[in-house]
Amino acid sequence: MNAHASQDAAAPKRVTLDNLRDRVRRGRKFAVLTSYDATTAAWQVEAGVDVLLVGDSMGMCVLGYPSTVQVKLAEMLSACAAVRRGAPSAYLIGDMPFGSYHNHVPDAVDNGLAFIVQGGCDCVKLECDGRMADVVAAMDRANVPVMAHLGLLPQRVTYSGSYRAQGRTDADAARLVEDARRLVDAGAVMLLLEAVPAETTDRVVEAAGVPVIGCGAGPACAGFVVVTPDLLGLTRGKLPRFVPKLADLGPRMRDAFVKYREHIEQGAYPAPEHLYPMKKQVE
Ligand code: KIV
Repeated sequence: MNAHASQDAAAPKRVTLDNLRDRVRRGRKFAVLTSYDATTAAWQVEAGVDVLLVGDSMGMCVLGYPSTVQVKLAEMLSACAAVRRGAPSAYLIGDMPFGSYHNHVPDAVDNGLAFIVQGGCDCVKLECDGRMADVVAAMDRANVPVMAHLGLLPQRVTYSGSYRAQGRTDADAARLVEDARRLVDAGAVMLLLEAVPAETTDRVVEAAGVPVIGCGAGPACAGFVVVTPDLLGLTRGKLPRFVPKLADLGPRMRDAFVKYREHIEQGAYPAPEHLYPMKKQVE
């Protein structure tokens, strides 16, 4: 088959980086959500959310780890492949987990390539600052598009032990702008800016020249991302201030589980409509 030919003319067109750049040029803001499984991904795309991030937040939301740093590369790759199966047309960003891109640049590139080849991703996300420009440049040389995640970096919990907003002084904002410039110069195709004030966001967006996705950042961003279980009301405990909680699915799930248990305990389940009839015997 011709390498330029489309695989399946009937399939919905896959969202590309050029599409996203075009949305930014036209001032069309776009929604991004985290996604960790095929079923949720399919519902998200049906809702018109066609940019999905397999975040390492999966470690806490799905796998029950105490922070994101325990997530393994194999767990992320498996989740990316599942989301890709559920959302073949989405622009898919894979979050590189703690330790998979820090130690040795060639290993980082190999791991980045695995996100593209095995995970079906369009782009990888790295939590970084300007010091990671060499890794971003090496990824770029290997045709692995990078989203550079700046601001609050949850993988730095190893240093701070907590999650705090960033870029809240003039000097910190200037540092973020400098980091953004270095990473974009090295080849980052997008930025993700987490937990920074609107004033700092304006400065980063102005300096970046690439689409900036906000997660608790200001309205100047091109797109906005939140963690899906937070949005759906599945997360137990306190949510960050920037999360719009748009549903309360946790208690609704619990209520369904209670009903199921009660139906069994009361003998109401299985009812006749749940039973397979015997095949009619032919004499
Ligand atoms: O892992 C994740 O979900 C993220 C979001 C905070 C954007 O990186």
